[in-house]
Amino acid sequence: MKFFIDTANLEGIKEAQDLGILDGVTTNPSLMAKEGITGQQNILDHYLKICEISDGDVSAEVISTDFDGMVKEGEILAALHPNIVVKIPMVKDGIKALKYFSDKGIKTNCTLIFTAGQALLAAKAGATYVSPFIGRLDDIGYDGIELIAQIRVIFDNYLFETEILAASIRNTMHVIRCAEVGSDVMTGPLSSILGLLKHPLTESGLAQFLADHAKGN
Ligand code: E4P
Repeated sequence: MKFFIDTANLEGIKEAQDLGILDGVTTNPSLMAKEGITGQQNILDHYLKICEISDGDVSAEVISTDFDGMVKEGEILAALHPNIVVKIPMVKDGIKALKYFSDKGIKTNCTLIFTAGQALLAAKAGATYVSPFIGRLDDIGYDGIELIAQIRVIFDNYLFETEILAASIRNTMHVIRCAEVGSDVMTGPLSSILGLLKHPLTESGLAQFLADHAKGN
């Protein structure tokens, strides 16, 4: 499973990249705003800075919701750096834009996926990634992991090459459950990845080994 980090924070991206296990970065307009990045040029410059840190795919989201606007914005984003993936919202014109970019060989990530039908439609349009938001589904009493499993079956039935990018990951168990049900990618905060390191028996076992070593020296 590929590990993406879901942030526009450069320090966080560097920390994840330094671990050596980072496969890419996802951002969205809220994450950019959280870092105080506003204005078109600053936003474009920030995407370039992210691409300089990460050597994997970097999702950059369009703001337009109409076909012409999405194409215009997406082309500017895609021209920034070869690793940019144009992030397109799940709306009717978004499907047309996914097809347009797919035909041009430009990578896309269809965002705000909450049903298997939406994922199927995005895959039909040639999306490189679909992003089901599992945390936001869990928040309102639906089963986000079940959605990932459902999309996995559909994509495998028809050999779609579109990758499932489990998004809105909130915790480490989400990461493990996504891996169990065969998500191709997860994107979440660094804490959800670092949580994979932890077990109290690992910590106490290491403390014991070091203490025993110190006794003999
Ligand atoms: C996906 O690409 C989104 O940026 C993200 O995962 C949304 O997560 P949230 O529900 O924590 O905002």
